[in-house]
Amino acid sequence: MRGRRLSLILPAILVSTLAQPTLAAEPRAAADYQAENATVSQGVVESNHTGYSGTGFVNYDNLVGSYVEWSVTAAQAGPATLTFRFANGTTANRAMDIAVNGSLVGDDVAFTGTGAWTTWQTATVSVNMVAGANTVRATAATANGGPNVDRLTVDTGGGPTPDGTPVEVNGQLSVCGVKLCNQYGNPIQLRGMSTHGLQWYSQCVNDASLNALANDWHADIVRISMYVQEGGYETDPQRFTDLVSSIIDKVTARGMYALVDWHMLDPGDPHYNLARAKTFFTAIAQRHNGKKNLLYEIANEPSGVAWSRIRSYAEELIPVIRASDPETPILVGTRAWSSLGVSDGATETEVVNNPVRASNIMYTFHFYAASHGDEYLNALSRAADRIPMFVTEFGTQTYTGDGGNNFTMSQRYLDLMAAKKISWTNWNFSDDFRSGAVFKEGVCSGGPYTGTSPLKPAGVWIRARVNTPDDFPTD
Ligand code: GCU
Repeated sequence: MRGRRLSLILPAILVSTLAQPTLAAEPRAAADYQAENATVSQGVVESNHTGYSGTGFVNYDNLVGSYVEWSVTAAQAGPATLTFRFANGTTANRAMDIAVNGSLVGDDVAFTGTGAWTTWQTATVSVNMVAGANTVRATAATANGGPNVDRLTVDTGGGPTPDGTPVEVNGQLSVCGVKLCNQYGNPIQLRGMSTHGLQWYSQCVNDASLNALANDWHADIVRISMYVQEGGYETDPQRFTDLVSSIIDKVTARGMYALVDWHMLDPGDPHYNLARAKTFFTAIAQRHNGKKNLLYEIANEPSGVAWSRIRSYAEELIPVIRASDPETPILVGTRAWSSLGVSDGATETEVVNNPVRASNIMYTFHFYAASHGDEYLNALSRAADRIPMFVTEFGTQTYTGDGGNNFTMSQRYLDLMAAKKISWTNWNFSDDFRSGAVFKEGVCSGGPYTGTSPLKPAGVWIRARVNTPDDFPTD
């Protein structure tokens, strides 16, 4: 767990069937429909240009009126987003008319050149659907015919579901004993994703990607990773405070918890950035006064310092935050890149025996499953019985956020965290080239973000594990 942190994400298959029983209304669903499985009039299924999903794509005949028609299912009546994935190797706009259930909903929708027949992009149309069966037809409107069409994605998500989002169900969180508890005082486990460093990958944290995280992955929480150095906060405090704030608002609008990560890393002594941290968290606390869905992580990965130094930092900073925000749980990093000291040859006992003198706080643990084996797992397990633990960062690969995945070891960690209700956020929700970034390179230039096709193997794996029913007891 040293060096620059890089994290990851998950997969989706028929997500709409994975209902979360404790969430009330659940109108969230996105599904892919391949063109090669649809009804084709005046076109052929081909597979001679790479990059398509499924088994091929439809090559429209070059004339007005050629079309593909999909039969799709909507979970309920209401708004839906249609996303067509296509390639157009010419420079001409191959405009198409989009009809839903026989009614024109998109006149001459642009399908402009993508640069090559092997370069696939998306075009999006907002429509209304009826509950149950619907048809979607895309008809060539020019003599050139349509582009090559790979698939249609139908997203009937559409944001928060009143009474049903993780925040609606759980409300204000607080630490109770060694657990994180919801507004009913019941222990819960939150599962979600960490962003990559916002100075590099804020483009991956947008309305569409957050819709996917909320509605397709069914994540409970987003860790907003704001580096302090390396081109982060210290270079422009106002800009980064505004950026974090706007992401908090987007996460809130989708009913998820927002974990604000003060991503100090190098220098490893948290005191180096104490004055900045006071300014930043005070600004965030004041601006988001009244929100019930926040958590603050005040020291990402201390290194090269004793636990006593981290503890004194926390005891100086926490009262300042509490002056503006008495309620939000605060997460404190641990020695040696938040390894509970293990990466320095220590153990969790230094924290257990010398806890931070403050209330409503937790301690963080980070691991990378291909680097950190039983010694780390056992330390986390022992610690979680004595002090409140939150895994704010982990990867299925090595501590560099790259390399091969160890899914076997990762699953052991996930089983432990489920059993002890240790909440987690996985590194990272970006399209960085490393194996731990859930999206394939280039995805953040326009999506789509739903389903498994945009994901690397680690993303497919973690998405499946974010996307299982939550257990949020309400009585
Ligand atoms: C080329 C290309 C086809 C495409 C066609 C077109 O033949 O290989 O995939 O459909 O042009 O202009 O429509």
